Amino acid sequence: MKLTYWGHSCFSVSCIGKTILFDPFISPNHLASQVKLDQVKADYILISHAHEDHIADAIALAKQTGAKVVSNYEIILWIQKHGIKNVHAMNHGGAIMLDCARIKYVNAIHSSSFSDGSYGGVPGGFVVETPEGSFYYSGDTALTYDMKLIGECTRLRFAVFCIGDNFTMGVDDAIRAAEFVDCEKIVGVHYDTFPPIKIDHAQAKAKFKEAGKQLFLPAIGSTIEI
Ligand code: NI
Ligand code: MN
Repeated sequence: MKLTYWGHSCFSVSCIGKTILFDPFISPNHLASQVKLDQVKADYILISHAHEDHIADAIALAKQTGAKVVSNYEIILWIQKHGIKNVHAMNHGGAIMLDCARIKYVNAIHSSSFSDGSYGGVPGGFVVETPEGSFYYSGDTALTYDMKLIGECTRLRFAVFCIGDNFTMGVDDAIRAAEFVDCEKIVGVHYDTFPPIKIDHAQAKAKFKEAGKQLFLPAIGSTIEI
C-alpha cells in the first residue's frame, strides 16, 4: 500500500485505485509550505476530530476534490453548514463500507472543539480494512487499553500513531500502543509542528527498534510503500 505524508497528522493512503485522505492541515503548517493544496487528491476525507490542526483545509479540499467527507455526526453537521453535501456521519463503534474499504470509527481519549469553541463531538480514530491490507489511524489520543480490541479484531499491516507527546501519546506510549494492537510497522504523526511536540527522530526510531518495531517518519510530501 502507498502512504503519502502531508505533514502533522495529514496523510493519504491509496488502495485499489482510490485515495483516502486523513485530517487535512496543510496550508497553515509552516513545515508543509512546499505542498500546494491542488497536489492533494482524495476520494474520501476522514476527519478524526474538530481541532484546527486536523480540519483546517477540510472545506477547501472537499470542494476541490469532491471527495466524500466521513467523520462523527457533529463534525459532519459543521461540514454541511459550509455547503459540502457529499458526507457521511458516523459515531463510535460504527462501521461503513466504502467502495475501497470498510471504515470503523473507534475510541480516542482527547478533546474536540472547533476553533470558535463550539462542540466537535467526541474524538475518534479509524480502523480501515481494504483488500490490500488493513491499518489503524489513532487520531489524537492517549494510550488506552481499548486499543487491545483493535489488535484482537483486525490483523493490521501498519498503524499511524501520534508520537509528539504533550497533547497526545509520546514515543514510549506509542510503542505500548503498537504492542496493544500487535503491529510492527508504525508511521509517526503529530510531531515537530509546534515547539511542545518537537521530537528527536533518531532516538524515537531507536526506541521502536529496541522494542522490535519499525517507526516510519516519511518526509513531508513523500510517498512510501508500506
Ligand atoms: Ni487534537
Ligand atoms: Mn492535534
